[in-house]
Amino acid sequence: MSDDYSKIKIRAKELRRILNEASHEYYILDNPKLLDSEYDQLFTELISIEKKYPELSSENSPTQRVGSKILDSFPSVSHSSPMLSLNNAIEASDIKKFDQRMRDLLSLGEADATYFAEPKFDGLAIALRYVDGVLVQASTRGDGSTGEQVTENVRTVRSIPLVLSGNPPNIVEVRGEVVMMKRDFNDLNQRQTKAGEKIFANPRNAAAGSLRQHDSKITATRKLSFFAYSLENATRSHGTVKSQSEISSILKEYGFVTSSLSDSVRGLQGIQHFFEHVAAIRSNLDYEIDGIVYKVNSLEDQQKLGYVARAPRYAIAYKFPPQEEITKLLDIEVQVGRTGAITPVARLAPVRVGGVVVTNATLHNQDEIARKQIKIGDFVVVRRAGDVIPEVVRPIVGRRTHIEEFVMPTLCPECNGEISKEAEESVYRCTAGMKCRAQRAQSIWHFCSRKAMNIDGVGERLIDQLVELKLVDSFADLYRLEPEILSTLERVGKKSAENICTAISNSRMTSLSRFIYSLGIRNVGEQTAKELASHFETYERLIAATEEDLMKTPDIGPVVARSIRQYFDDPYLSGVIESLIEMGLSWKQEDANIKKRTLSEKKFVLTGTLNNLSRDEAKQEIEVRGGVVTSAVSKNVDYVVLGEKPGSKLKRATDLGVKTIDELMFIRLLESENE
Ligand code: IVH
Repeated sequence: MSDDYSKIKIRAKELRRILNEASHEYYILDNPKLLDSEYDQLFTELISIEKKYPELSSENSPTQRVGSKILDSFPSVSHSSPMLSLNNAIEASDIKKFDQRMRDLLSLGEADATYFAEPKFDGLAIALRYVDGVLVQASTRGDGSTGEQVTENVRTVRSIPLVLSGNPPNIVEVRGEVVMMKRDFNDLNQRQTKAGEKIFANPRNAAAGSLRQHDSKITATRKLSFFAYSLENATRSHGTVKSQSEISSILKEYGFVTSSLSDSVRGLQGIQHFFEHVAAIRSNLDYEIDGIVYKVNSLEDQQKLGYVARAPRYAIAYKFPPQEEITKLLDIEVQVGRTGAITPVARLAPVRVGGVVVTNATLHNQDEIARKQIKIGDFVVVRRAGDVIPEVVRPIVGRRTHIEEFVMPTLCPECNGEISKEAEESVYRCTAGMKCRAQRAQSIWHFCSRKAMNIDGVGERLIDQLVELKLVDSFADLYRLEPEILSTLERVGKKSAENICTAISNSRMTSLSRFIYSLGIRNVGEQTAKELASHFETYERLIAATEEDLMKTPDIGPVVARSIRQYFDDPYLSGVIESLIEMGLSWKQEDANIKKRTLSEKKFVLTGTLNNLSRDEAKQEIEVRGGVVTSAVSKNVDYVVLGEKPGSKLKRATDLGVKTIDELMFIRLLESENE
């Protein structure tokens, strides 16, 4: 190796160090030490070295922050531990109950519990994996167990360290929220307007859209920020760490930004006080938040408390009240949904609600319009809460000048099919089924959506064209599309036609639960689809199930069972499914959703009132793990679970020498599969 070459190599390394340090000072510490021009000069020097000697470049070089590769799709990533959601507290009474529950379960009596309080950032959750201190993978939350790998895009986020400072262990997983600062959001929308591009409804949508760009150069121009809030498996990877507040300090040491508002608080009073303080300064913050997250501070206590369903028991999100404004209801129109449901939609005079301009709001159904006594032309209160669709809350009757009633049309505005209502339902539907263009388009759109088959690049506008031109009749026809056909459509170039076909083709390997959800069966949402997949395990068993069989699935009652049967019995729809299978759609056995049979053949009796889950939930949790619940205590019962006021079954259990466990022990038993 020549002398010059090794000097250049050393210089490249030094430049990377200086530039990384400068960004840290600028973006994290808010205390720049280099002038912008000095930074630019060093940056240009590094780029020219890396261009000339590509082998000296590295993925962690600051030059990589400008974005590089263009991806066709985002590979999926299985999370090392599920990315959970949080239970919400809406009213003060919810938070009071939460605090009471924590004190009971931790046996604190009258003593105050200590919580770590942090804003609930309104962005999107990201998991970052570092090996030997180097960022190797970034993924979105996805459905909680599988996300999308967005590493290239995340590298462009300046407040995410590419290399950790301090002394990290060899594997570190940090989770947090990618957000767009209000200022950056406004700048972006101004640029978009000038360029005649779409404007984003709010910072969260802008952040999500930017992070899911296939071209990371675009992400790099979008100015995203990151707040870190958790360190996965902290007690295992960081032996001495004992609390959430220590985690927060470690995250700072590694070079992350955490919220400067975060603090430990004591007891219900501390919770309320923090909440009111942050609510008062919320509008002055640089970023959007929609509540406060409280976590029991001690990690040991967190572990004791464990999880219920998809949320930790030790944490809660206390949401700020929804934001309301008054505006004029200009008209009420109707929209046709996937299952033919006719939804009245309010057309409103534009009004800003919580920073977002609202022009449409849902009115749910005709009964709701009648119940709320809403008339066309009224001034109405409009509410937006977090990411839910805005809704019309009530009319201001005192400002009414005339009365114009909404009349439900008798014919479908999309297909002229008849509109009717079943007696026990409040929803009117277009009865034309898949003969209705709108229903076909909506069902295809649902099929492609993220939680369904997750086919990238197939949006509403494209589907409308495909249906209109009769290129696609059902979602099975998507798999017959060729790039040559697609590229004849408006706004579809040759390259994107190819990308779309690849995305469609790649979607064929899926999971049973996604497949069930994608079909768009009335009343079958994502959760029900998962329950069905794990209960029946195979598609053949599912379609052979009678309504009675279906009702044995947790949470499925007669109405849902009937809609499932009706779907599979419809000759047109079952034909579509057959074509799908012919086109090569397949799925692997879904272990992730099938709980390990940790309680196989174990017999349980439940007695007394449980605090954390209902009887039905407890029964379900036992059954999905292969256990059985019976009502009478006998010698072959394995466990009697004692709630509050257990009654005579406790005595009988003691007499027979059957093992009794309290609620906390029961919950640990359920969770022991995760160990
Ligand atoms: S802790 C077990 N802390 O809220 C989940 N989450 O509703 C632990 N979020 O997916 C999450 N700010 O994306 C936590 N300070 C914060 C948060 C936060 C926002 C999001 C997160 C999560 C969602 C759950």
